[in-house]
Amino acid sequence: MKKGLVSKLAATFIVIISVSFIMTAAFLSYWFEGYYFEQRKTQLMSDSQLIATAAVQYIDEKITADKFNDALVYVGKYLSANIWLTDNYGIVYAVSDNEHKNILGKQVLTNDLEQLRENHVVESRGKYGKLITAPVHTIEIPIFHNEMFKGVIIMHSSLSEISGALKRVYEIIWISAIFAIMVSCIVIYYISRKIIINPLAQINYVADKISKGEVDRRVKINSKDEIGVLAKSFNSMADSLEKVEKNRREFISNVSHEIRSPITSIKGFIGGILDGVIPKEKENYYLSMTYEEIQRLTRLVNDLLDLSSIEAGQFKLRIEEIDINEIIRLCVIKFETKIKEKKLTVDVLMQDDKLLVVGDRDRITQVVTNLTDNAIKYVNEGGNVKISTKAKGEKVIVSIFNDGPGISEEGLKHIWDRFYKEDKSRTSKVSTGLGLPIVRCILTQLGEDIWAENQQPQGVTFTFTLKRI
Ligand SMILES: Nc1ncnc2c1ncn2[C@@H]1O[C@H](COP(=O)(O)OP(=O)(O)OP(=O)(O)O)[C@@H](O)[C@H]1O
Ligand SMILES: [Mg+2]
Repeated sequence: MKKGLVSKLAATFIVIISVSFIMTAAFLSYWFEGYYFEQRKTQLMSDSQLIATAAVQYIDEKITADKFNDALVYVGKYLSANIWLTDNYGIVYAVSDNEHKNILGKQVLTNDLEQLRENHVVESRGKYGKLITAPVHTIEIPIFHNEMFKGVIIMHSSLSEISGALKRVYEIIWISAIFAIMVSCIVIYYISRKIIINPLAQINYVADKISKGEVDRRVKINSKDEIGVLAKSFNSMADSLEKVEKNRREFISNVSHEIRSPITSIKGFIGGILDGVIPKEKENYYLSMTYEEIQRLTRLVNDLLDLSSIEAGQFKLRIEEIDINEIIRLCVIKFETKIKEKKLTVDVLMQDDKLLVVGDRDRITQVVTNLTDNAIKYVNEGGNVKISTKAKGEKVIVSIFNDGPGISEEGLKHIWDRFYKEDKSRTSKVSTGLGLPIVRCILTQLGEDIWAENQQPQGVTFTFTLKRI
């Protein structure tokens, strides 16, 4: 991952930076060439005024030919240019360099003459007709005196000399560009390592550790950018994983604990009978206790299977129209023996005779049974249990109240957790602590709600909703 991302990022940035620097350097070189020739033209034109003045004086015979030639040679050297002077017909009458003496008296201007007569400067680059075959930069400047066209100053500068100077400038531009590209590449490489690659490598490392079971590992990145957000989400994911892992461990230890105690009892009872430690006449008593333990185990396993299959969504709810009042009535009848044993008063307050709701008959029966079982189990002997149904808008509200001791503040938070029991000693024999989690799971699957409240002066009410038809 490391190598791939670094090289991809670096390559992308390097291409972008190189293209921009190369474009800038090319533009600069192009611009500088234009600028250089423009400057040269301006310089030659301003200096040509001196030559023009001298030429007019020479034409008017105010200075001698020698003096004029000397001046021309001097200016030509000073400007590094070959200077030719022509009359108004384009015939050369003076040159600044000896090698072109042979063109004296020859007509060198024909095509450009028209433009020059109109006082336009003519500029060209390359060979100058057949007279100069090496590439030159040529400027032809007309001489006007008293608004009369008096001739032309032709100035040639060798292009190879000029390009020598330009070459140096180009070298500076391109070396700077290459240097800038190299520096940017190094900076980009280090920055991308620091802000992207290293944090990603850290996240990857921690993810690997977590997948190997070290769920308490966390990423330490505090930047405020997208990587920081990713690290935060990653850590919160790790938090949930740790929680799930903790729950899993707790669950396994709870299940093992719940299974171990009945198995230990069964083993003790049967061992006692086999060893003869338990007297023959007491065997039946211990066997019935063993049977009870086995029943408890069976219930535990069934409850666990129910809970896990409801949670896993494997329990397909059979949604149908059911009469909740009828389910409650049947449920109370089921508990008649227990009610009589504990001498309880059970009130059932129902709105209307029939109250139709949407639900799965078996599952809703399980909900009502578990809640009624709790109410009867946790109420004091001779106490009261009240079950009521009430239609409210689109919902039916079912409440199951018992006036036993309330549930502690802490308990109210945890009664929905698997294996939670308020008073472990009192209920350990007949309880698994799975009743309420199953109830909540079923109602959640139906999209309904359930809550528990302590009542004044004493008692607890469990209330749940169902969808009315
Ligand atoms: N009506 C109630 N009054 C007082 N406490 C209750 C009531 N219903 C539940 N509780 C408390 O909530 C705990 C969890 O209830 P839950 O039904 O899940 O488990 P259980 O009744 O202990 O076992 P099981 O229902 O599996 O036999 C109980 O142990 C009890 O302390
Ligand atoms: Mg219960």
